[in-house]
Amino acid sequence: MTTQRTQVAIVGAGPAGLILAHLLDSYGIESIVVDDRTRGEIETTIRAGILEHSTVDLLANHVAGSRVLTTGERHNGVNLRFAQENHRIDFAALTGRAVWLYPQHEVLKDLIAARLDAGQDLRFSTRGVRAQSNGTGAWVLCEDADGREFQIDADFVVGADGSRSAVREAITGSHTSGFFKEYPFAWFGVLCEAPPSSHELIYSNSDDGFALISRRSETVQRMYFQCDPEDDTSAYSEEQLWDILQRRVPGTELQRGHIFQRDVLRFRSFVASSMHKERLAIVGDAAHTVPPTGAKGMNLAVADVVILAKALRALLREGDARLIDGFEDAV
Ligand code: DHB
Repeated sequence: MTTQRTQVAIVGAGPAGLILAHLLDSYGIESIVVDDRTRGEIETTIRAGILEHSTVDLLANHVAGSRVLTTGERHNGVNLRFAQENHRIDFAALTGRAVWLYPQHEVLKDLIAARLDAGQDLRFSTRGVRAQSNGTGAWVLCEDADGREFQIDADFVVGADGSRSAVREAITGSHTSGFFKEYPFAWFGVLCEAPPSSHELIYSNSDDGFALISRRSETVQRMYFQCDPEDDTSAYSEEQLWDILQRRVPGTELQRGHIFQRDVLRFRSFVASSMHKERLAIVGDAAHTVPPTGAKGMNLAVADVVILAKALRALLREGDARLIDGFEDAV
């Protein structure tokens, strides 16, 4: 078995893990990032689509070559529709800030390219991750794509490995320790080949239930409607899906087109009983999972790693443990 050393081992190459790696690099702290997925899987899985202002600032300032300001689209407001009326919330006028439409998988492409271009360590298809702290350091044990075991010895290990985190157990003592709530409704999400129906997003309440009209590009749109968590995605024809959506968005004629992907997103909330123990921490979905509203999951994950990166800088560069000891209270 091979053993390598680094300052911070990061499990998970999603937005949390990769942004953390970039921030640490800007502080002169070296890391190795591992993920059990292939690069192709990470770069093509469709997830959230909206970035908050602070996330955009961070990507634009810290990620070499990020396309967020060139390819992403600034949205100054959203539409809330209920009781037959539209209420536009003008973020820019009210707060001076905005949100950006820039899909998560595009963010990930930028983050991966920047890391690999800089010659930094990022390993895909690593399986069977186990992590442990020994008080003054920590290690990760896993298998590479060819099934060979390797160990990473680090000063600190971070689990940014999603809601089924393997690192969480080493912190909380059990996979499920924490607070969990499942809601009695879900979102039926569709991706379709059609022009945009509205420039800005529409969140619409109607007698039939909720719908959200979002976007991905000039030719691909993302839409959701409230459904039963047990709904079968194959039970609807494309025409039925369009009729359901249209009834829930009175006042806007939806531009129809071929629906090429459909999924039911369950509404679950989870907060782990602990996010930090000795030389281990978890961030993002590994620490807290939120329902898929407001694209909150990715933006919260980014907020976590901004705090964690500063705490690790203080710990590893100055030997000051105060910020990491206060990490759970700060996030
Ligand atoms: C999207 C998802 C959301 O939950 C939201 O509030 C806005 C947009 C989206 O996937 O596009």
